[in-house]
Amino acid sequence: KLAPIEAAKRLAAYSAVDHHVHEQHRVIGIGSGSTVPYVVERIVAQGEDVNRNRVFIPTGFQSKNLIVDAGLVLGDIEQFPEIDVTIDGADEVDDHLNCIKGGGGCQYREKVLAEAAKTFILVADYRKKSPALGTTWSHGVPLEIVPFGYARCLRSITALGATRAPLRMAGAAKAGPVVSDNGNFIVDAVFPDARMHQPAELLRDLKALTGVVEVGLFCGVAKAAYFGNEDGSVTIRH
Ligand code: A5P
Repeated sequence: KLAPIEAAKRLAAYSAVDHHVHEQHRVIGIGSGSTVPYVVERIVAQGEDVNRNRVFIPTGFQSKNLIVDAGLVLGDIEQFPEIDVTIDGADEVDDHLNCIKGGGGCQYREKVLAEAAKTFILVADYRKKSPALGTTWSHGVPLEIVPFGYARCLRSITALGATRAPLRMAGAAKAGPVVSDNGNFIVDAVFPDARMHQPAELLRDLKALTGVVEVGLFCGVAKAAYFGNEDGSVTIRH
């Protein structure tokens, strides 16, 4: 039997696939995180006949393995720059479908696949449902930054109002920083509520900084968000 939180993730994932991954869809983007394996599971259940004619584009190392292990056809975004539907997890989603992503450090590739998709759908458990960003996710906005000059970049982030902007460290696994799938560093920048509650402005300001490759704020990209609830229901935000 699945733990309640896993059941909630699965519910969201299954429901999103049932609503948005149609038989005629040929190019499908697969996101990262612990909810996405259920997305792949549900897609596989649509059958070999349907999936044989599809190609799946990953957002990083983990989702590439998910696609390969499921026996699905792996594709490259350069080959298929137009995606029918991308489904991905999120760390926090507000009432307007703005979200924080990048808890897993994949936000650059995730944003490329989100923007490349005709339809971008979020899947998450009920803990990610929030009235305003920065309420349930306290780890800050994940940024991907270029290693050269990173100390300068951290100062610029602080100058925009960040109360903390530490480099994400690998911890016990390695003495050093986390390195993204693109060879860059990850910064978790914590901002006061006043900035977090205006995510589009914060996104614009952060992206303008030299050295910032991508920002884990997704504004105006998602078409819908599916949240699995504890009671077995699904909340859908459009
Ligand atoms: C990866 O960088 C993230 O954006 C994930 O999609 C996000 O952290 C959601 O992960 P879970 O599904 O594990 O909550």
